[in-house]
Amino acid sequence: MQCGLKITVIGGGSSYTPELIEGFIKRTNELPVREIHLVDIEEGKEKLNIIFELTKRMIRKAGLETKIYQTLDRKQAIKDSDFVVTQIRVGGLKARALDEKIPLKYNVIGQETTGPGGFAKALRTIPVILDICREIEVLAPNAWLINFTNPVSIITEMVLKHTNVRTIGLCNVPIGMINNIAKILGYESSRLRIDFVGLNHMVYGKKVYLDGDDITTDVLRNLAEGNSITMKNIPDLVWDKDFINALGLLPCPYHRYFYMTDEMLEDEKRALQEKGTRAEQVKRIEEALFNLYKKVELDVKPKELEERGGAYYSDAAVSLISAIYNDKNEIHTVNVHNNGGIVDLSEDVVVELNAVIGKSGARPIASGKLPIQINGLIQAVKSYELLAVEAGISGDYNTALMSLMSNPLVPSIKVAKKILDDILMANVDYLPQFNK
Ligand code: G6P
Repeated sequence: MQCGLKITVIGGGSSYTPELIEGFIKRTNELPVREIHLVDIEEGKEKLNIIFELTKRMIRKAGLETKIYQTLDRKQAIKDSDFVVTQIRVGGLKARALDEKIPLKYNVIGQETTGPGGFAKALRTIPVILDICREIEVLAPNAWLINFTNPVSIITEMVLKHTNVRTIGLCNVPIGMINNIAKILGYESSRLRIDFVGLNHMVYGKKVYLDGDDITTDVLRNLAEGNSITMKNIPDLVWDKDFINALGLLPCPYHRYFYMTDEMLEDEKRALQEKGTRAEQVKRIEEALFNLYKKVELDVKPKELEERGGAYYSDAAVSLISAIYNDKNEIHTVNVHNNGGIVDLSEDVVVELNAVIGKSGARPIASGKLPIQINGLIQAVKSYELLAVEAGISGDYNTALMSLMSNPLVPSIKVAKKILDDILMANVDYLPQFNK
């Protein structure tokens, strides 16, 4: 038996990989990583190579012995892994741009995770993640799959329902909210704790604590006064004061799509004219990032990576891996089976909430009933997600239509059908389940 962990990163050529590598470097005392395998596909070969070289420089600078490999052979990389991290984007930014644009044609927000854009992304991603899971089941049955691939809720739901892989879905929104609040209030983020409850990109802060004292009222007052809690990829629209007071909970940045739909739609349309979809903006940011990554003198994660929405991603991922490996029984906000965490939802649906993390995985912390003001929206979005999983697996048109229609951002059957037909046509190369 070999010492140290084998980590496999699928989507290793992603511009986010230096985040992850930095996370491993920071935690080298508690997490003995023997080897990291960066996996990508033929089309991503060039980027993978740039990331591979940068990773080696980062590891060398940190004085570590960790071996770094790059490969297009996914199975070989998965074999005997202890942790597999998935951060893939099926169809690349080109497909994302269409996800964001198609719904806009019909006056509907695209949004690549929560909106109909996220639905298209789910349909493309499910078959690929399913294949990856089949490989893990055979080649690394004891591995943990840490999934960052969006839409995290739907993908995690699919893995837990249709495979035997141990998985935890992860997002940087909770950690981003804590860091935002810490900055506004001028505290170290390690002193803050939030009781999170909901679904991915649909998560609310029920209570905020500073050193264990409840400061929820102060935080809500700050938010109502116009202080911003947001992320780079989401327009920073100010919350309505009366709404925040009535809600009495902390919304996440993505809630703007659901509670300020008109304004967000107008913003997306304006952005489309002025600077293109978020995918097109990200393409420009990525080009600049990869030019930077190529520089042989660069041997750390560059600050410019913070221009992407996934900032703090490494902290979320690597601290979670460490909590599992070291059986820390530490609280993390994760996407796992509800298992009684939220009374109003079934045990076997995936929710995003605080859970105790140790060697055996996640044990959700009981959070009781959902406050009435958010119960309806969460239930509706969960139904949409469950249907999206079934549509993504079966390729059944009617299930897909019902799923899309259940997304609160989609206004009518007529519009749902138009969007769905366009999605199926634009993604024909990525939807084997619909083209049997
Ligand atoms: C946030 C979300 C991620 C998402 C990212 C997009 O961080 O939590 O799930 O992938 O934003 O950022 P981007 O820079 O690609 O628009």
